[in-house]
Amino acid sequence: MNYHFPVLSTTVLKAFDPQAGQIIFDCTLGHAGHTLEFLRRQATVYALEADPNNLAIALNRIKSHKLTKNFHPILGNFANLKTIFTTEKLPQPDFLFADLGLSLNQQSQSGYGFSFHDDASLDMRLNPKKQSLTAEEIVNTWDRDQLYQIFTKYAQEKLARPLAYEIVKKRQQQPFKNATQLAQVISDYYQKKHYRSRLHPATKIFLALRIAVNHEFENLESLLNHSLTIVKKGGMVGIISFHSGEDRLVKKFILKHKLSSQKYLPDHQECLSNPPSRSAVFRTYLIP
Ligand SMILES: C[S@@+](CC[C@H](N)C(=O)[O-])C[C@H]1O[C@@H](n2cnc3c(N)ncnc32)[C@H](O)[C@@H]1O
Repeated sequence: MNYHFPVLSTTVLKAFDPQAGQIIFDCTLGHAGHTLEFLRRQATVYALEADPNNLAIALNRIKSHKLTKNFHPILGNFANLKTIFTTEKLPQPDFLFADLGLSLNQQSQSGYGFSFHDDASLDMRLNPKKQSLTAEEIVNTWDRDQLYQIFTKYAQEKLARPLAYEIVKKRQQQPFKNATQLAQVISDYYQKKHYRSRLHPATKIFLALRIAVNHEFENLESLLNHSLTIVKKGGMVGIISFHSGEDRLVKKFILKHKLSSQKYLPDHQECLSNPPSRSAVFRTYLIP
């Protein structure tokens, strides 16, 4: 299995140096890339994952490393941190960590609808059993103005207005059924208007849909707000974000609460060896 390669792993371990007996809460377990390092340093790790497939992958991986002793996996969403801590009676962590976004398998695998090449799905839910709204529903039923709003607010798409029109026009001819079909309509529109884009033309629209389907901004705000009461006094929170919208929320929160903080970026070597790290920003803050 090709596991997701953890971003800024060494930097995270330098910022928070895990010790035996310390409690770490990993809000985004993924394939346990970071959590394995925490466990190797004998910390106790409680780890949350919204996607049942990734939770199973991580659990098997940790079992294969014989590191299950101090590991407590939880299927759930970090939007519900407060409730999870109360109902599960979890201890206050020394370090609360989140590595936002998606793992590489989620981005590339058919069935999730996140990949431009997914001709089987336009879903984008992390947990279909717990969430009802899909990207397919958004592009086939939301009106032009609602589409325009998410394309600009979540992804600053420069062609938000005409693309919202184009999507509504195309769906009247044939409803969108998969990601490939949507990516093609967006690419064709860019080409027709002779617009160039460094990334795939559908990158921002797909990002906006993903954020809307999974309430990513609201969830992050909830995590930040609850971190102040969940984490031990003097403890640390560390968040890795991958786009400016997310990082802006973290930065604003730190400024609003006047928290002592640090910002870290991947170095040139990491950007070369692990290209997804190029857009990563890691911020830490201390709980007063
Ligand atoms: C970038 S990956 C984490 C990778 C992990 N640090 C590793 O090294 O393997 C992000 C993970 O967080 C999960 N996730 C995203 N939003 C979540 C949320 N609101 N609650 C819980 N898990 C979430 C995704 O399903 C994905 O598995």
